[in-house]
Amino acid sequence: MTEPLRLGIAGLGTVGAGVVKIVRQKANLLTARTGRPVVITAVSARSRDKDRGVNLSDFAWEDDPVKLAQRDDVDVFVELMGGADGPAKAATEAAIAAGKDVVTANKAMLALHGQELALSAEAAGRVIRLEAAVAGGIPVVKALTEGLAGNQIERVMGVMNGTCNYILTRMESAGLPYAEVFEEANQLGYLEADPTLDVGGIDAGHKLALLASIAFGTKVAFDDVELEGIERITIDDIEQAADMGYKIKLLGVAQLTGRGLEQRMSPCLVPAISPLGQLEGGTNMVVLEGDHVGQIVLRGAGAGEGPTASAVMSDVLDIARGIRVSTFGQPADMLEAAKAAKSAAPAPYYLRMTLHDKPGALAKIATVLGESGVSVDRMRQYSHEDTSAPVLIVTHKTTRAALDDAIAGFEATGVVASPPVAIRIETV
Ligand code: NAP
Ligand code: HSE
Repeated sequence: MTEPLRLGIAGLGTVGAGVVKIVRQKANLLTARTGRPVVITAVSARSRDKDRGVNLSDFAWEDDPVKLAQRDDVDVFVELMGGADGPAKAATEAAIAAGKDVVTANKAMLALHGQELALSAEAAGRVIRLEAAVAGGIPVVKALTEGLAGNQIERVMGVMNGTCNYILTRMESAGLPYAEVFEEANQLGYLEADPTLDVGGIDAGHKLALLASIAFGTKVAFDDVELEGIERITIDDIEQAADMGYKIKLLGVAQLTGRGLEQRMSPCLVPAISPLGQLEGGTNMVVLEGDHVGQIVLRGAGAGEGPTASAVMSDVLDIARGIRVSTFGQPADMLEAAKAAKSAAPAPYYLRMTLHDKPGALAKIATVLGESGVSVDRMRQYSHEDTSAPVLIVTHKTTRAALDDAIAGFEATGVVASPPVAIRIETV
């Protein structure tokens, strides 16, 4: 029989334990599919004594993930610790230097250091694979690098953070405020150790930057993603949106135009009846548009033990089969540096603000909007009991630049009681 493929797994939390379960439970299936056994030889985590619900007794233990990455009995280093820098990056570098292939679910590390890591892996003749880093169990990296490889990709968009989608859909279904649902998500263990990664849109921004690189053959440019999180979305916004036939989603859109690479991750209103509008809970959806294939919609679990471990295993099995696709679908030294471009496509916007309830306040706001070239489609002041009047404005199509100009101008009117919230209305 062909030599087994030997895995060293660093990180035995949600995803790592899931991978151990698949390797143990599906040994025959994995051998049948790849023609060789896939085995775990060594593992590493912070605490050796923690009960992880999986049997680790057959595996060597390393306290130090760097040592694990360098072991002679490891062919593939499976990095499932997380963190953009620190041990994850050090161990990945050590694995490459020691001649190992790497499989990782670590979107933060790859969004910040993916280019340099891929360059050194490729120079050493090794691969770093990342299916699990984007949209959990959805095979979107494979879809782009293999299934759609004959297409020029025109646009990538989607909901890529399950926690934010859970929070937004739960606020609507239970009629609960953001803070209460955030706490609920925390209790359920949905939030990253640093919750701002989720609710600040950073985690989803990491994923979008990785997908954009793979889709357009450009260098990973996370710093250029226009980022906005969901922290300022209120139950009022969700109810007003629903009233108009929309849902609020943390939506990522990336496209390469003649002006450069546009990448934005921000809350958007999408039609409630659209596939994106109907996405509930922690589910992710990625929409890919290619010049020959048209539109492809992928939907599935964006996180969790089983789905994420499933994605890790897809990369492991490729390596076992001898399939060696570059990290970003083409050699890292051929990725182009694209100029960052702000999204310029005009769209209608939802604008919510609180005004001091005094004569002429609304007229002043309307004047500033007009002076910035922003046309009002609908305007509503809804009931209130104190001297601050909540106001909702829906604009006709406008650019974000014109809207930002108007928002900056509101300050000087002296009638705005709280900073406005602007949400793009996206046609999807
Ligand atoms: P997790 O449950 O927090 O597990 C992290 C594991 O790494 C733990 O076993 C921890 O050890 C170990 N670890 C941390 N620092 C270490 C160090 N210095 N040395 C050795 N081991 C160390 O994380 P996770 O949810 O499985 O996520 C792992 C990776 O997958 C992250 O990059 C994450 O972003 C990514 N990911 C996760 C999901 C998901 O649904 N969870 C989905 C997609 C991608 P102890 O257990 O001893 O503390
Ligand atoms: N925090 C991420 C999410 C985990 O909620 O989608 C999966 O990447």
